[in-house]
Amino acid sequence: MKKTVLITGVSSGFGFYTAKLLAQSGYKVFGTVRKQKDLKVFTNLPLSIQPKTLILDITWPQDKITQTVKKIIKKTGKINCLVNNAGYAHMGCVGSFTIEEVRQQFNVNLFGAFKMIFAVLPHMRKQQQGLIINVNSIFGLTTTAFYGIYSASKFALEALTQSLRVEESIFNVNAVSINPGSFKTNSKKNTYYPDCKHLSSKSKIRKLNNKFKKITSKLNRHQGPERVAVQIKKVIETHNPKNNYLVGYDAKILYLVHKILPTSIQNWLIKKFIKRLA
Ligand SMILES: NC(=O)c1ccc[n+]([C@@H]2O[C@H](COP(=O)([O-])OP(=O)(O)OC[C@H]3O[C@@H](n4cnc5c(N)ncnc54)[C@H](OP(=O)(O)O)[C@@H]3O)[C@@H](O)[C@H]2O)c1
Repeated sequence: MKKTVLITGVSSGFGFYTAKLLAQSGYKVFGTVRKQKDLKVFTNLPLSIQPKTLILDITWPQDKITQTVKKIIKKTGKINCLVNNAGYAHMGCVGSFTIEEVRQQFNVNLFGAFKMIFAVLPHMRKQQQGLIINVNSIFGLTTTAFYGIYSASKFALEALTQSLRVEESIFNVNAVSINPGSFKTNSKKNTYYPDCKHLSSKSKIRKLNNKFKKITSKLNRHQGPERVAVQIKKVIETHNPKNNYLVGYDAKILYLVHKILPTSIQNWLIKKFIKRLA
């Protein structure tokens, strides 16, 4: 029996490759997009294995999201797996953000994922089976300068995933985190920086942000997003998946450093770097 998988944010990156790989492997895939033009994102694939796309913005109100999910369940009779993938990064010094920018980051990365979970859970409980895969980040497990707000949203997602995993086990519903490092997707283009309009042009924090933006926009990402798609497929096909999957060499190195290097030394190194940048 074909499993049905619902993935958010399939217009590009991890979501696109995961939807494509799962559809090619025989899964019934529903993928959400925000823009009308992206409904056609899989038209290069043979019609019989094209993931079905539908419009859904995870910042919509809960009712609208629940209604959209219900329509999928009505069509297919089930959703076996939800992949909460849609998200973006807002990078910069914590002290340069406005509350609206922080709220928007949480609206998408945390509340959006929560709303999707809220919409699928009643159905998964009823069918006594379900898997929720939250696409998190290595920065949902450790953080550093400039990542504070993005990490806050992803740490919160990590906490939610850990609780969900144990609570919903009574319904045979599991929750798993994928924690990738840096991958070549549209996320570089979709990374935002605080606009700092509330800070003076001479503000040190503003300058620090600009320098960080310059550095990161020059950095090339080399790892292909297909690796994350393969990992997600493996999780779906594993009888007893782990809680977290670090994907990419950088994620593994950063996690190791976070675990073995004393925090005081990590902070000393970062402070030195920031001082040189300022
Ligand atoms: N790439 C990396 O290095 C990396 C590393 C760690 C974690 N991640 C995480 O991986 C996930 C996927 O990112 P990606 O790298 O594949 O980036 P991406 O190529 O920019 O894809 C992000 C997807 O999320 C969608 N999205 C954004 N806001 C949305 C909203 N409000 N409602 C519905 N969909 C929305 C985007 O749709 P639009 O096309 O309409 O914008 C797009 O389909 C994110 O959660 C990100 O935080 C990425």
